[in-house]
Amino acid sequence: MHIFSDILQIQNHLFKLKSERTIIGLVPTMGALHEGHSSLIKKSKLENDFTVVSIFVNPTQFDDSNDLLTYPSDIDNDINLLKSISDDIILFNPDSHEIYSGEIKSDHFNLNGLDKHMEGEYRLNHFQGVATVVNKLLSIVIPDNIYFGEKDFQQLRIIENLVSEKKLKTKVVRCETFRYADGLALSSRNNKLSFSSKKIATNLFKALNFAKEKFNTLDTFEIEKKVMEYLSSFPEIKLEYFVIADEETLETPILKENHKYRAFIAANVSGVRLIDNIKLY
Ligand code: PAJ
Repeated sequence: MHIFSDILQIQNHLFKLKSERTIIGLVPTMGALHEGHSSLIKKSKLENDFTVVSIFVNPTQFDDSNDLLTYPSDIDNDINLLKSISDDIILFNPDSHEIYSGEIKSDHFNLNGLDKHMEGEYRLNHFQGVATVVNKLLSIVIPDNIYFGEKDFQQLRIIENLVSEKKLKTKVVRCETFRYADGLALSSRNNKLSFSSKKIATNLFKALNFAKEKFNTLDTFEIEKKVMEYLSSFPEIKLEYFVIADEETLETPILKENHKYRAFIAANVSGVRLIDNIKLY
């Protein structure tokens, strides 16, 4: 495995590979890798000649400094997990000074309002931070394909918007959410949940599935109301939002024909903030 922490060094390495007309995939991550990340990396391995995995805990996307300080990090574990997938992975693991050469702050992007809903309402400037770091990673690696999980669907839409606004040639590849058998989506934050809290957290997926079942028969307002009622019966769950929104614009719908919709949820479960979503088609 090739490991780089220096921009110029990885660019030199990639320059040599690209001169042989190879196809490069990039999987951006913040580490604490799990099977959800692995599913993106494996997809990239299948679809590209070379795969770059970046591990960088991006400070500008954290609105809460405590969240940043307690974000799980174990680079040795991550390297072992990457090696178990393949020895032929290029790891980019820079530090903050390498990525933000001057002041550590976000650039400003026109996100076409996609950052105004859901996560954007609860995490101020989060998506400007995400767009800033992904934009930097895109310009360092210049990949043919970049991989994002549908688990963070709003983030995925924001990156699709960024890539199309900047008219980049990179293709954004959507990857399905990887779940445990009980429906709980894998997340680096799950490590903070106790066994019993993990069981309670599966109710978020149940709520999403309920919305999927009822989407064609019940009014969206009715669905949202019933979900809120159901979740309020669990004292460990503090719901932040549950919304049905247009997959393209992320706006809450007046339902239109030929549009695709998703149900989105964010909740604190025993003090751990979790998000999830499901397609309703
Ligand atoms: P991170 O939370 O590490 O996630 C990296 C990628 O893995 C994201 O595209 C995310 O959607 C995907 N992912 C996480 N859990 C998943 C699951 N259960 N199934 C499928 N995909 C999953 O998202 C970030 O990092 C950062 O915001 C980043 C894009 C790296 C920018 O800093």
